[in-house]
Amino acid sequence: MTDAVGEIERLFIYACWDASMDGTLIFSALWVMLPAYIPNNAAVVAGGGLPVDGGRTLNGNRLLGDGKTWRGILLGTLAGVCVAGTLNISAPFVQMIGFNPIRFSLRAAFGLAFGAMCGDLFASFLKRRMGKQRGAPLPGIDQLDFVCGALCVTTILAPGWTFQVFNVALIGVVIIVTPLLHVMTNIVAFVTSLKDEPYWT
Ligand code: CTP
Ligand code: MG
Repeated sequence: MTDAVGEIERLFIYACWDASMDGTLIFSALWVMLPAYIPNNAAVVAGGGLPVDGGRTLNGNRLLGDGKTWRGILLGTLAGVCVAGTLNISAPFVQMIGFNPIRFSLRAAFGLAFGAMCGDLFASFLKRRMGKQRGAPLPGIDQLDFVCGALCVTTILAPGWTFQVFNVALIGVVIIVTPLLHVMTNIVAFVTSLKDEPYWT
């Protein structure tokens, strides 16, 4: 047990050290997670229309709510896959400046994008079960639901790719960096009136 804690501590220090020394880990974390970051933002801009739950309720509360739509899922996933394709195309150029960027297989790209949307759906399902209305915050879950969804679905669809790319250090950096990024993009969306809810949701 103490060995395991020591190992986690060592990897965490290694992650922070490496990230602060040359930024390689932070760069890799942002690069590999971009196809999972974009779908939720694309859904805010392009979503709307028919809700996924079709208005159905469970114990008096909506199953998911009007904030989760088919169009959001479809266009969000498509946007994430397109981002992964764009990153693949730009990888040789990024390599020229000294980084060794990760390439995305189609399964990995789809897993990251669709998985992010699934994580978001699951968070809404949880919120409705807790009696929270659409847009109500659920701190912690709101900032990491799409990361968990992306990792789970990618592990199922592209296990080889996932285990090759995501080591403990990279996952550690993703977990630290993602909530910060999420809050920052939500501030922009709130200030520009793209989102009605406060920036922490
Ligand atoms: N959106 C969508 N389809 C999705 C996800 C998001 O159409 N699958 C759009 C909706 O217009 C939604 C907005 O993006 O209102 C913001 O997304 P989000 O914050 O995830 O939804 P909320 O409205 O806050 O609802 P919830 O409380 O269920 O998270
Ligand atoms: Mg919200």
